[in-house]
Amino acid sequence: MAIRSDVAFFGHPRGLATLFFTEMWERFSYYGMRACLVLYMVAPVSTGGLGFPTARAATIYGLYTGSVYAMSIPGGWMADRFLGGRMAVLLGGIGIAAGNGLIALGSESVFYTGLVVVALGTGLLKPNVSGMVGALYSERDPRRDSGFSIFYMGINTGAILAPLLCGYLAQRVSWHLGFATASAVMILGLIQFLGFRSSVAHVGQRPEPRRVGDGNAHAPLTAGEWKRIGAIGVLFVFSAVFWMSFEQAGSSLTLFAEQLTRKNLLGFAFPSSWFQSVEPIFVVSLAPLFSWIWLRAGERQPSSPSKFAWGLASAVIAFCIILYGSTLTTAGPVSPIWLVLVYLFQAIGELLLSPVGLSTTTKLAPRRMVGLMMGVWFFSIATGNYMAGFVASFYRPGAGALLAMFGFVAAITLVSLLILTLLIPFMRRLMGDVR
Ligand code: PHE
Repeated sequence: MAIRSDVAFFGHPRGLATLFFTEMWERFSYYGMRACLVLYMVAPVSTGGLGFPTARAATIYGLYTGSVYAMSIPGGWMADRFLGGRMAVLLGGIGIAAGNGLIALGSESVFYTGLVVVALGTGLLKPNVSGMVGALYSERDPRRDSGFSIFYMGINTGAILAPLLCGYLAQRVSWHLGFATASAVMILGLIQFLGFRSSVAHVGQRPEPRRVGDGNAHAPLTAGEWKRIGAIGVLFVFSAVFWMSFEQAGSSLTLFAEQLTRKNLLGFAFPSSWFQSVEPIFVVSLAPLFSWIWLRAGERQPSSPSKFAWGLASAVIAFCIILYGSTLTTAGPVSPIWLVLVYLFQAIGELLLSPVGLSTTTKLAPRRMVGLMMGVWFFSIATGNYMAGFVASFYRPGAGALLAMFGFVAAITLVSLLILTLLIPFMRRLMGDVR
């Protein structure tokens, strides 16, 4: 039930503030941990790391980040079927805090259990906290989109702050402290969520128990609905390619930052994990520009497949930049500007593709299958993350290997861009009146 008169948080319902901070701390925990993960796995045992070879670290990283998003599907389903959103967020947060606590212990034997527990916890928390944001507004509440934009700012505020704190502690003080901080901030988020639970008391309730034969009785799909589902399928493939390139951030690009980039700012030597804050800084700064452009363009704005294509083009530019940067590594560590530019174009790509993918999926999905299709969208992100880990396992700090690896990413993304461009007229037909 949405309450129109609740305007306590910048004109938005009070519950938005609660969910904003819950997700901010959760993303703080996620991105803080992610900023240290590969560096910790490849660090020699003598410095407290796990001493894994790069290929193994990148593969584990891909499996982990992929599973985090894949687990959103059972996580969303469990909330819908029996837990309710609020309980799912609570249990998920406990899992995230406990899993990071296990990783902070620093022994390889509990490390994997820790990763699994964080992935399960995130699967319970992330889709349901977003679902509850949606439930704060009625379908036709004009504040709905801006509510989600504010929420996206919370995500990115967490993502900006996390590497600065967790990365610094992990790389400069001790790995344990970095992961322990990722656990502690999730506990803060939970305390905040519980303290303000009355503001979300009207959303995310436990569902009524279903009787046998209820639900699932999908009326058969019409031809038009099949076409739209086909359009979601096409977008799935290109979304996976985009996230494959995007998710080099925490793996190969972080190793590039650690091993091949100068890390000095006005005489201060900063840790390589700090580069992870650059992309969300660009997202926060450029998001208002993008909403302004789309508002100005109104009816004349590009269709969603075209925005997808522009997002892929931005990813291609990012990887051309890092290819150029890689050629310079033969003369020693390179300027930080190359990674900053890479993250600028990744942020532009994210802003073009991520919100569009989400909203187009909800618009294309038959009403009775919105939840399932959201799961499909998350699964495309998961697939991209798995592929990203596989690709990053070919990372080696020599110029030849870098050109091959980053070149592969650039080539796959470019080919996908060309195919999608050719498919745009066909997509228009599949999508019918949805743009
Ligand atoms: N920065 C976004 C987030 O962490 C990236 C993302 C988009 C992740 C969509 C999952 C789904 O939320």
